[in-house]
Formats: sequence, structure tokens, C-alpha cells
Amino acid sequence: MTNQYDEVYQESMDDPEGFWGKVAEDIHWYKKWDKVLDDSNKPMYRWFVGGELNTCYNALDYHVERGRGDKVALIYDSPVTDTIKKYTYAELTDEVAKFAGVLAGQGVQKGDRVIIYMPMIPEAAIAMLACARLGAIHSVVFGGFAAKELATRIDDAKPKVIVTASCGIEVTRIIKYKPLLDKAIDLSSSKPEKCIIFQRPQEEASLIEGRDVDWAAMMADAKPHDCVPVAATDPLYILYTSGTTGQPKGVVRDNGGHAVALKWTMKAIYDIDEDDTWWAASDVGWVVGHSYIVYAPLFKGCTTILFEGKPVGTPDAGVFWRVISQHQVKCMFTAPTAYRAIKREDSKGKMIKDYDISCFKILFLAGERSDPDTIQWSENNLNVPVIDHWWQTETGWAIAANCMGLHHFPVKYGSPTKAVPGWDVQVVDPNNNQVAPGEIGALVVKLPLPPGTLPTLWQADQRFKEAYLEEFPGYYKTADAGYIDAEGYIYVMARTDDIINVAGHRLSTGAMEEVLSDHPDVAECAVLGVEDNLKGQVPIGFLVLNAGVDRPQEEIIKEVIQDVRDRIGPVAAFKTATVVKRLPKTRSGKILRGTIQKIADNTPYNVPATIDDPVILDEMEQALNSIGYGKARK
Ligand code: COA
Ligand code: AMP
Repeated sequence: MTNQYDEVYQESMDDPEGFWGKVAEDIHWYKKWDKVLDDSNKPMYRWFVGGELNTCYNALDYHVERGRGDKVALIYDSPVTDTIKKYTYAELTDEVAKFAGVLAGQGVQKGDRVIIYMPMIPEAAIAMLACARLGAIHSVVFGGFAAKELATRIDDAKPKVIVTASCGIEVTRIIKYKPLLDKAIDLSSSKPEKCIIFQRPQEEASLIEGRDVDWAAMMADAKPHDCVPVAATDPLYILYTSGTTGQPKGVVRDNGGHAVALKWTMKAIYDIDEDDTWWAASDVGWVVGHSYIVYAPLFKGCTTILFEGKPVGTPDAGVFWRVISQHQVKCMFTAPTAYRAIKREDSKGKMIKDYDISCFKILFLAGERSDPDTIQWSENNLNVPVIDHWWQTETGWAIAANCMGLHHFPVKYGSPTKAVPGWDVQVVDPNNNQVAPGEIGALVVKLPLPPGTLPTLWQADQRFKEAYLEEFPGYYKTADAGYIDAEGYIYVMARTDDIINVAGHRLSTGAMEEVLSDHPDVAECAVLGVEDNLKGQVPIGFLVLNAGVDRPQEEIIKEVIQDVRDRIGPVAAFKTATVVKRLPKTRSGKILRGTIQKIADNTPYNVPATIDDPVILDEMEQALNSIGYGKARK
């Protein structure tokens, strides 16, 4: 028996152009597209070529012009500053139009890049939407990154203007953004013409004359700017994400495909209508924040919540239930780690009972594998469906999900359910042959990818092809391994590269190794992700020191930990390293990361036949035990 999901999925596979062309009718276009899908330059595909639209118009003005200006668009809920502020669609449109005027006054035009380095305040979303209004390309950088990471992004994107705030607020401390920005600009070779600083009362930043301008002063006499039509294929934003080296990948998102796909997902995947309130508890610095705090809910015309707080500690493990109840949230989306943090503090879910959360209908989880324990705890305590779904910065929206607006399939723990319409997901072996159901292989997606996914990497077409399209010709490589069962349920098991997921944050162990190996006393090193009860994974480092180094090892370990914090940022959560005499390798010199990981996680392993000297594994066990891993794990 078919259901709505099966029908829609089949339609999207049989006739992608017809399917997406129909979906695109829901978007406002200044000029309709000439062609839904341009495949004249394979393997590069473009959606809605010839079409012209404006993303900000579709997110804001469109609703105001249809008489929904009084509907609340955005609720800023900030337990760290004890603030709740609501913006209607009309008010948000006015603010964004004014800030677009400010940016235009600083010379920002269509195609110019603007870096946004901001905490979770409404001004971050206002800055993003103002860029979209002008056709400028924003690049939001997460606040937990160090100055060096910001500098790398400045050098790649070459922004005309950087927008920042004086500070961010973590649970127990104020993060001063301005010194980080100044340091990043010092380190970068491409200098922005202007920096616009939003002063927060918690921390006043000093401004550099001639370069820095004050957000509030500029807004006071800004002239609102209209929406600028852009081509569907023009970039809306660049979002840098960890690659396999210290050089992050600049994922590009276009305007047309993005608006079409994201608006559609709000109902199809999340079952959200325009009168609903929706909450994605993430950060605007991540793709989830771009897609589901800012753009998709506003395209849909519903209410979105921008939350400046943490699941615990702001002030307690009941804050999620307070927000859900106070703002009548229908569905929320976050990373499993957030629920693990709550579960750890309130294992019986007692605090849930302090609030009436009968409005709450579905919990969506993504960003890392959802462990069955966390899903079951949430199901039992919240009494709502808990839906795991799988996606990546590159894809911008879910590859696999239980599409709650189409059909609710029974949940199988460990699986994000089935491919979302538009996605032809397959499992292949190293020779690019499809494997049988249930067999593990590389998870790939048959080209073309649906609209809203990355058309390329910023000014790096060749790197885009090498990273994603060359290993499995005709397919997009997700770099995740897994399998699909006989009923079409997808299982995502592990990354096939050096990316790890720490508290839902994507990080490269290769980038951390680059930092470690720059230490003068380190001859060789390895960083790998090991299991962590709260964060899913955490990185640990192994250092082989240069011959003759006689300084205390603890000192060197402390220094490398500080180096990672200084160069990548606190978000890397790199807190553990140990010194070893040598690293286990294959005879051809490859470090046996998988084996070390298994020892660290205290799971059974076979001694690899290719190992050059098995004794090293005993040494590894001892080193891992000494830092609380392996058999010493609690
Ligand atoms: N600006 C500056 N620093 C930041 C930051 C930001 N925006 N976000 C995090 N940090 C810092 C933290 O203060 C912490 O610093 P510390 O080492 O001095 O303690 C470090 O980066 C690691 O942060 P985090 O990974 O968030 O760990 P945590 O221990 O502070 O909190 C959780 C753990 C589970 C509560 C937290 O990770 C969380 O809320 N996760 C939600 C999931 C999420 O938002 N995922 C995004 C994708 S959906
Ligand atoms: P990011 O680009 O930060 O969204 O990270 C993407 C990676 O996170 C994916 O390639 C997966 O490895 C992992 N991931 C995201 N969602 C899931 C999920 N639901 N199940 C398993 N892994 C996931």
C-alpha cells in the first residue's frame, strides 16, 4: 500500500524537473526560470537558471504584503541576559531594510562578501537577511572559533565589511569578540574596509577610528533599502566547514534552489504550518542555524525562536521545557548532545513536569548519530515522536528523515529512516558498485543533488569536484559509511574521513594534528575522536616527542592543548593528550587510527595483519589507561 511519502518520493525520482518546478511555484519570483535544471556542464548542475528572486523578500516582505505583518516572525529568548523580545514580520522587515541601508552606505553591493561574527542575538539574523536583501553574500563564522580560524575565512572570502558584536555570553563567562576580530584582521592579508560593531551592555568594545562604526549610531539615521533581484544561481552565502586539512571548505548556497527546497521542507519534513511556532536550538554559525533558525521558518511564514542559552546551566535543565511552554512551540530541532546534557542532570525528567508542554508535538534530532538511549529517554519523558534525521553542511537540508508532513513511518532505533524526496541515496563498494541491502559501504547520492544543496565550493570548483564527485563518478560522496536495509531505512555508521562530531560540532582531527605538529618538541602526532557520554565524541591527542627533549611531559601537553584552543578555538574541546614512544602503524607507514580508537573505546579489536610491530599496541593500551581510556574507562 502506498502512502503520501511513497508517492511524493517516486514523483521526485521519476521527474525531478517536474517535481521541483511545481514546488518552486510556492516562491515569489521577479522572473520565472528558463530551465528548472541545467545539466549542460556535468557534473556541475544548476537549478532554476534564468530565474530571478530575492531571498529576503521571500522571508519577510512577502508575508507583510500578504497581510501577515502582525504575525510574530522571531522570538529572541535569552536566559543569559534575561531577555525576551518579539519581532513581527513588519518589524523585522523594517529592521532588516534599515540595516541593508547601513551596509549599502558602507559600499556593500550585490556579490560583495560580508562576514558576520556574532553571538546568538537577533542582530545576527538581521545582518544575514540584510545581506540577502542586497544580494551580498554573507559568511557567518561561529563564535567559538579562534582568531586564526576567523582569519582563514577572511582571507578566503575577502569581505568588504565585517559585522560583529562586542561580546558573546557563555554560561559562566563573557567572550570578548572585538579583540578576537582585531587579532584576526591583523593575521589576515585581506583587510575589510569597515567593521560594524553591535555594542552589548555586558561589554563595551573600543572602536578603531576610520575602520569601526557603531551599529546603533548607523541604524539611527539609516535609510531603508529595497530588495535587489538576484539570479537564482547567485550565491546567497558561504559557510565554512571542516575539511580534511586546516583549510576549511567554503560551502556555497545559491538563492533559488535554497528558497524552493527549504520552504518545502517545513511542511514535508517538519509538519510545520504558517501559524505554528518552531524552535531550532542551534547556533546561527552552523548550517542548522542558517537553514532552520533563520531562512526556512521565515520562508514558511511561521514563528522562529532564536535562543541564547544552553540546555543546562541557563539556569537549569528545565530551560527547554520553559521555552516550549512559554512560546507554545510545536516542534523543536536540536542535537542529541543537548538532550544527553539534560538527561545527565535530570535523569528522571522531573523538571518536565513543572511545565505544561502539551503544545509540543515532535522532537527532531540531527548533527550526529542519535543513540537509542537518548531517543528512548526523550520518547518516554516527552511522549512525542522523536525523529532522527541525517544531513550535512553541504546539503543544507535533510538527506534522510521520517518526513512527518508526508507519512510517519515506525521508528527503527539507529536509523534516520528513509531518503527524503529528491535524494537518490545508495550504498556502493570501492568500485562504485551498488551493494546488497544490509551490506555496509559508502553512502552516496546519485547526481544531480536536489535544489538547495551546494553547487560548488567558494572559488574552488576543482576542490569541489575532487572532494565530492571524483571518487564515485556519477555520485556525490557523503563521506559517511553505512547501509540501507530491505525496507529502505538508512543507517549512518561513521565518517570515512577524519571529521569528528563533538557536541554536534563538526571538527577535523587533521586540522588539530597540524597544530600539534607545529609544536617544537613534537616529532609526530595523531588526534582521533573517541566516544564520550555527553558530547558523542571528543578528540584526544598522542604525541611522540623529539629525541633529546627533557622538559616535563605535562608542560608540553598543556602547551599543545592551549595551542589548539588558541588556533582552532574552545569549541574543539581538545582537553586530553598523552605522550607515547611511538605510534602503531602499518608496514607502509599508515597510522592505525581505527585500532587506537577501539582500544580507547574499550571495544574488542583484532591485531591488524599489516602492523609493523604489535608490541606498540600494548604501549598504546597503557598510555590510554593512564588518561582514563581503554580499560580504565568509567
Ligand atoms: N562562543 C564562544 N565560545 C563558545 C561558543 C561560542 N558561541 N560555543 C561554545 N563555546 C565554548 C564553550 O564555552 C566551551 O568552552 P570551555 O572549554 O571553556 O568550557 C567550549 O567552547 C566547548 O563548548 P561546547 O561544545 O558547547 O561544550 P559545553 O561543555 O559548553 O556544553 C552542551 C555542552 C552539550 C551543553 C553544548 O554543546 C550544547 O548545548 N550543545 C547543543 C548542540 C548544538 O547546538 N549543536 C549545533 C548543531 S545542531
Ligand atoms: P555537519 O556538516 O556539521 O552537519 O556534519 C555532518 C556530519 O554529521 C554527517 O556527515 C554525519 O557524519 C554526521 N551526522 C549528521 N546527522 C547525523 C545523523 N542523524 N546520524 C548520524 N550522523 C549524522
